[in-house]
Amino acid sequence: MKTRLLSLTAAAALSVFSAASFADSAVMSDVSQGFEAQTGKEIYETVCISCHMAEGKGAVGAGQFPAFANNMRLMAGEYPAHIVLYGQKGMPGFGNYLDDNQVAEIVNYIRTNFGNEFKADFTAEKVAGMRTPDADYGTLD
Ligand code: HEC
Repeated sequence: MKTRLLSLTAAAALSVFSAASFADSAVMSDVSQGFEAQTGKEIYETVCISCHMAEGKGAVGAGQFPAFANNMRLMAGEYPAHIVLYGQKGMPGFGNYLDDNQVAEIVNYIRTNFGNEFKADFTAEKVAGMRTPDADYGTLD
C-alpha cells in the first residue's frame, strides 16, 4: 500500500510534466549540446528516468508512461531505437541529442535490465541505418 501511494504521488507530479516543459528541467538545461552521459545506465538516469521511473515501472497519471519491466516489445532493438530517435505521441524524440552510440547503449540497457534478458546486441551501426538525412526528430525546446 505504501508503494502504491508513493507511485500515485509520483504520477501526480508527472502530470504537470509535458514534452514541452521537459527542456526547462534542470537535467535538460544543456540539451542543445546533446547529453554527456555515455553508458546506458547514465543515459537512463539522466534522460529517461523522469518519465519511465527508477525501476522502469512506468507511471500512470495524466499521461501513460509505459513500463520496461518484462516488456516483450523490447524484444527487437529496432522498436525502442525508433522511439528513442523519433519519439512517439507523448514521448519526445532524442535523435538530435543522442548520437548513434548513445542510442545503442540505452536500447541495450533497457533490454537487459528491469527483469529483461534480451541480448545486448544492438549496435551504433544499426542506429545509423535508422536515420535519414532529412529526418525530423523534433526538439525538446
Ligand atoms: C517526457 C517523458 C519521456 C521521456 C523523457 C522518455 N519517455 Fe519513453 N515514453 C514516454 C511516453 C509518454 C511513452 C508512450 C508513447 C505512446 O503513447 O506511444 C513512451 C514510450 C516509450 C517506449 C515504448 C514502450 C512500449 O511499451 O511501447 C520506449 C521503448 C521508450 N519510451 C523508451 C524511452 C527511453 C529509452 C528514454 C530515454 C532515452 C525515454 N523513453 C524517455 C515518455 C517519455
